[in-house]
Amino acid sequence: MDIDTLIRERHSVRKYYDHPVEENKLAILSARIAEINSTHGVHFQMVTEDPEAFSNFILHYGRLEAYNYIALIGNKKDATLDEKCGYYGEELVLKMQELGLNSCWLALTYSKKSLKVSVAKDERLVLIIAFGYGMNQGMGHKKKTPQEVSNLAADSPAWFAKGVEYALLAPTAVNQQKFYFTLDGDKVKLKAGHGPSTKVDLGIVKYHFELGAGKENFLWQE
Ligand SMILES: Cc1cc2nc3c(=O)[nH]c(=O)nc-3n(C[C@H](O)[C@H](O)[C@H](O)COP(=O)(O)O)c2cc1C
Repeated sequence: MDIDTLIRERHSVRKYYDHPVEENKLAILSARIAEINSTHGVHFQMVTEDPEAFSNFILHYGRLEAYNYIALIGNKKDATLDEKCGYYGEELVLKMQELGLNSCWLALTYSKKSLKVSVAKDERLVLIIAFGYGMNQGMGHKKKTPQEVSNLAADSPAWFAKGVEYALLAPTAVNQQKFYFTLDGDKVKLKAGHGPSTKVDLGIVKYHFELGAGKENFLWQE
């Protein structure tokens, strides 16, 4: 399946069947997690078939039912940890979609104590991604306009428009879409707004923008 379809069809899913995910699919995810961990200095951990993970957390609209998750953990002192979790976590989310699995980012509505992960003293659990076979495919989220989140103009290059379009299709915490892209020549600046998990959102949105715009077309301006 092409990336455009994966991005458009992926939505948050909060209820999953307890069917185990096939070994070959888990192997693909764990191989990529191992690579991300060794290359980018994080400590992502995957836990599968855990019936207790979400059993203690009641949401006002019902319990989240999920049995598998990836915990995004890394060094406390790494100032880019949240952004890294967003960027590489979203890569894994789109990989799950390609494998026919559903997913949901979770920063708040779960109990950290119920997780079967190890977080060392110098580490921080940033958030988790629940995944598995969903009971539904979720729904598209409400989107801001490109002009609300960027300086896109009539004469902007097509790659910039596509990058912003893909960024608006990205998941963000409470669907806040608090980010802003500024195009200046062949440089793009991305700024996060204020709100919960906006630095994680920044990494997610950065990953989507690169997929839409094509990394060869621009440089990130720090
Ligand atoms: C960083 C982050 C944190 C999130 N935390 C939660 C959460 O704690 N609970 C929840 O139910 N959904 C959570 N979500 C899911 C968002 O509500 C969802 O992605 C957003 O509404 C857009 O919907 P979509 O993913 O279906 O496109 C989170 C998403 C992100 C990106």
